[in-house]
Formats: sequence, C-alpha cells, structure tokens
Amino acid sequence: MGAVIAVVGTKGGVSKTTVAMGLAIWVAQLKPRDRVLLIDGDLHVRSVELKLCPAREASLADVLSGKRNWRDAVYTCQLASDGSLLYPNLAVMPAGGRFFPLHGDVSSRMERVRKIFERMIEDLRSEFSFVFIDTPASVSYEHLILTAAADRVLYVCEANDDSINSTLATARGLEELMGVKPLGVVLSKLMRGTRREQWSEKASRIARVLGVVPFDKAVDEAFRENLPVVAAYPNSAASRAIRELARKLLRLKISGRASLSSRLDRAIERASERARERGG
Ligand SMILES: Nc1ncnc2c1ncn2[C@@H]1O[C@H](COP(=O)(O)OP(=O)(O)OP(=O)(O)O)[C@@H](O)[C@H]1O
Ligand SMILES: [Mg+2]
Repeated sequence: MGAVIAVVGTKGGVSKTTVAMGLAIWVAQLKPRDRVLLIDGDLHVRSVELKLCPAREASLADVLSGKRNWRDAVYTCQLASDGSLLYPNLAVMPAGGRFFPLHGDVSSRMERVRKIFERMIEDLRSEFSFVFIDTPASVSYEHLILTAAADRVLYVCEANDDSINSTLATARGLEELMGVKPLGVVLSKLMRGTRREQWSEKASRIARVLGVVPFDKAVDEAFRENLPVVAAYPNSAASRAIRELARKLLRLKISGRASLSSRLDRAIERASERARERGG
C-alpha cells in the first residue's frame, strides 16, 4: 500500500510547490521501479500543471465533480529530453478549477466530494508507492480534505518567526482537529549567512527538521522557464538539498493511515464543540 504525503505551508510563496515537485521527481528517480504520483491540490495557481503536464483534459476538479474517473486525470509527467520522457514512473494529477461547491445544496455536494475523494485515494494507494499532494497557501476547507487523505503532513516554512509560528499553529490545528500528524518540516529559502542551527531549533517545535533548502537563484530561473528546479538544474544547491530530503524520506517508515471520513467527522465535531464553548 502506498504512502500519501501532503505538503503544507501556511503562508504563500514559501516553496511548497518547489519542494513537492522536487520530492516527487527525486523519489521517482531514486525508486525507478515504483510509481509516484503528484496531485496538484492548488487550483488557484496551478504551477504543477504548467510545468509537468501542460496538455491536459481532465483534472482533480473534474473527478471530484463526478464528471470523470480519476484514471482520466492521471498523466505521465511530460518532461522529456531528446524525445524520451525524463521521469516515466512519475504521474501528475492537475488541479483544474475550484473543487468545492460554494452554491446550491453545499452540504450534500460536499458529502459527495468526500466520498469520491476517499474512494480515489484508496485506489491510488494500491497503484502508486508514493502520492504527494501539493496544497494551496493559507488554510481552508480544501486543506481539511487534502490533508485528511494523507498519512502524514510535510510542513514547509521559511526561516523567520512569522513563518515558523504560523506553521506551528497550522500543524497543531490539523493535529487537534483531525489527528493528522506531521512527518517533518522543511526550512526553505535559507539565506547564506543565516544561522541554520538557530532556525532549525525553532522549526523543530513544529516537527523534526527533515531538510533545509537554501535560497538559490536557480529555483527562480527554473520557474521563469516553467520547469521544476530539480529538472532544469539538478546539480544546483536547492536541488541537491531536495534530493537529500527525498533520501531521508525514503528511509522513514511512514505510518498513520486513517479513514478520511472519520478524520473529517472528527474535524466537524471538534469545530462544533469549539463553537459551543465560545457561545458559553
Ligand atoms: N529555495 C529557493 N530559492 C529561491 N527562490 C525560491 C526557492 N523556493 C522557491 N522559490 C521561489 O519562490 C516563489 C514561490 O515558490 P513556490 O511556488 O514553490 O512556493 P509556494 O509555497 O508553492 O507558493 P504558493 O503559496 O503560491 O503556492 C517562486 O518564484 C520560486 O521561484
Ligand atoms: Mg504552490
């Protein structure tokens, strides 16, 4: 059964997508016999789609709205060199549009989304060794479902108190609401000259620090070329740091599987408890 890992960071632009794409690519390369899937859970930005499978027809949004089977929305990563695919064992599921209904009978439609998502994740676990889920910035209902599906969460934050404190609040909130435990934390965009030990110690309040990715101009350069840094500049400092992270992750025993439905039920129960407490 495959492992499902959600990549989460509370603030925008902290490097979630760079880390999620990089990890998925390195894990696919380090485990060439295994199948790896990257789900783009960010319907606002869609940078995974742009970089890894630009010509797509179906998406996660289509699957969750019941229009398409999940198999239609899984695409082999299209990055190629000299006509051959670079990562033939890496697949991508693009986000598409908004997948949470905001009008009509919201609760029954959400129930449908939950059921489809749960069934899809079960199927994906038997077909892929690793499923990475890239999530959007901030914390919303989308995060509840995207992280409820995961065995563990990998947090990404920058080396500043703001980013670390907000990520800590998110990690505690997700654990309390749904019992989703962190796998670890990645410190991103570490500037040269910054005290790595000091920030690693602060970030270790969130979870164990699994990796530190330096600030590296190659990431931005690759972004402008619409490529993940690990594909465009595999020997860059950021790319090597993500490879190290992938190696570490492959050595971990990833456990924590729980039913998506029971986690969401627990979240709803906790949220109403809190509302009752607030109301006196
Ligand atoms: N290690 C790094 N060094 C330098 N620049 C980086 C690094 N990681 C990411 N960036 C830059 O930061 C920007 C945001 O990166 P990315 O899209 O990975 O973050 P994100 O957390 O997924 O953002 P969003 O919240 O919009 O989803 C991009 O322009 C990218 O080039
Ligand atoms: Mg992103």
